[in-house]
Amino acid sequence: MAKVISFQSRKGGTGKTTSAVTFAQIVASKGYKVLLVDADEQANTTRRFTDTCKKDFKQIFSILKENGISHPLQSLTEQLKDDKYTSGTYDVLIDPASIHRCCFETNHENLYLCPANEELIKADQMVLLDTRSPQQTRFSRAFKMVANEFDYIVIDNAPSANMTIINSLFASDLVIITLKAGGDELDGLRKTLADISEINQNFGVNINFKILMTMMHRQKRNIELLEREALEAMFPDRLFKTMISYQDAAVAKSSVENRSLLDKKSNVLNDYKAFVDEFLKGGAD
Ligand SMILES: Nc1ncnc2c1ncn2[C@@H]1O[C@H](COP(=O)(O)OP(=O)(O)OP(=O)(O)O)[C@@H](O)[C@H]1O
Ligand SMILES: [Mg+2]
Repeated sequence: MAKVISFQSRKGGTGKTTSAVTFAQIVASKGYKVLLVDADEQANTTRRFTDTCKKDFKQIFSILKENGISHPLQSLTEQLKDDKYTSGTYDVLIDPASIHRCCFETNHENLYLCPANEELIKADQMVLLDTRSPQQTRFSRAFKMVANEFDYIVIDNAPSANMTIINSLFASDLVIITLKAGGDELDGLRKTLADISEINQNFGVNINFKILMTMMHRQKRNIELLEREALEAMFPDRLFKTMISYQDAAVAKSSVENRSLLDKKSNVLNDYKAFVDEFLKGGAD
């Protein structure tokens, strides 16, 4: 029976996508079957599995063409392939039973992707207008239909509290809140906890959550140490011991080059491996 793990923070740029993708890849590399769900219309997770640079160029070229602006690389557009992802989280929110045609194999063994695209932003309104079935249970109903096919369903969320996120949180056995150390990010933690609490109260559930500190500098700054100490006191059982270190070159390079962090040794990869080990020891509890 698949466990559903959400990565969420209402603050943007706290490492949700990097953590969700890397976590999913490491867990899959250990032999577990994982479905990675992109619940963010920015589609950053999906972009890790596509030739995004070519796709971006293709779209830029077609905008130029529509506006009658010629460019010297016109012939390149013909060489660019079409999207391989024809359905995804948008479809699942509209019709949970469509989940079966929304899970795509990736080039990582045991790892499947339920992709997103910018259409996802419209799903919110569609779900709100569709009052024939409960609005918060679209993902949970879909995930139940594939629960025997996966060990883990890992969701990358947007820094938002829209209907898609309500569906994600409602469906989750565990929400991992990513907290970037030493900044305004505590406000993101507060808002995420408030969202979870609202869903618990409104729908009579009890969503489990834990906190993962990300982007810690090797030479920890005072503000980071103080924050860690305060969080340890406040959330003794809910703070992952492992912290993800800040390593700009490794992370930025892997996203620009569309490479997995797993392809190259780095401190940040070691941190993510330690985080997965800690997670697997504790399960989704
Ligand atoms: N450990 C790290 N060290 C250095 N840079 C990092 C690290 N983790 C993530 N980043 C960088 O920080 C930025 C934000 O990371 P990421 O996209 O994972 O965050 P996010 O929470 O998913 O953002 P959003 O809220 O926009 O979805 C990216 O540019 C990423 O490359
Ligand atoms: Mg993201």
